[in-house]
Amino acid sequence: MNFTNKNPFIAGNWKMFKTIPEAVDMVQKLHEASVGMDGAQFVVIPPFTALSEVARALQESPIQIGAQNMHWEEQGAFTGEVAAPMLKDVGCTFVVLGHSERRQFFGETSETVNKKIKAAFAHGLVPIMCIGESLEERKNGNTITKVQTQITEGLEELDAEKICQIIFAYEPIWAIGTGLTATPDQAQEVHGFIRSSLAEKHGNTVASCAIILYGGSVKPENTYSLLKEKDINGALVGGASLKADSFAEIAREAIKAYEEK
Ligand code: 13P
Repeated sequence: MNFTNKNPFIAGNWKMFKTIPEAVDMVQKLHEASVGMDGAQFVVIPPFTALSEVARALQESPIQIGAQNMHWEEQGAFTGEVAAPMLKDVGCTFVVLGHSERRQFFGETSETVNKKIKAAFAHGLVPIMCIGESLEERKNGNTITKVQTQITEGLEELDAEKICQIIFAYEPIWAIGTGLTATPDQAQEVHGFIRSSLAEKHGNTVASCAIILYGGSVKPENTYSLLKEKDINGALVGGASLKADSFAEIAREAIKAYEEK
């Protein structure tokens, strides 16, 4: 399946929220709300426990499904972990890797992110690779260095053909769940940097096809101004993706911004 930055890409990371009935109810409503919104690519990223039922509920829908994490091994004695073939099996197309909450609370490093990206490709999953700086790093003027390091280490040993298929999500840590959003200028600066860095290291084709999402307190009210920016191709939404109406509204705003850019 091909995904493109010609249309906005709107993904909802539910984090550790929703039981199975809540998850199914949400995606049924989202499916109804998204009818006719062909201009947006929708992805929901429920907790592991709800993946199977969400996949069943979306069988007839263009809405795609992703998981929030996985292990890099194909199988093994890794209590509590989930492997790529299991995610494929349950109907996932995408997997989020290196989310800042995984890096911050669960010891995720760029090295493990790199292993996981390779494992995702080996099993036909599309990685959504998260990167972003802390408030302290931003205050110290280290945003670009941090993002550059995460990209370089995360993409180690991957060729241009693979890098082309990765979805990047720039999520400044200080904007996640805080209600603080990067301004469109702040976000564009980093997105522009990511694209030019990809061009420099992996060629213009990789850079021009890259899908680069913004994440961090995205809501219907700020989507339009963020998505109007040249290098912002979509959103990775947390809190506002938990309700079908706000998530669909974000997609509507994104489509409008795309039509006008
Ligand atoms: P919020 O939209 O709740 O700030 O979360 C962003 C995020 O972490 C998405 O992965």
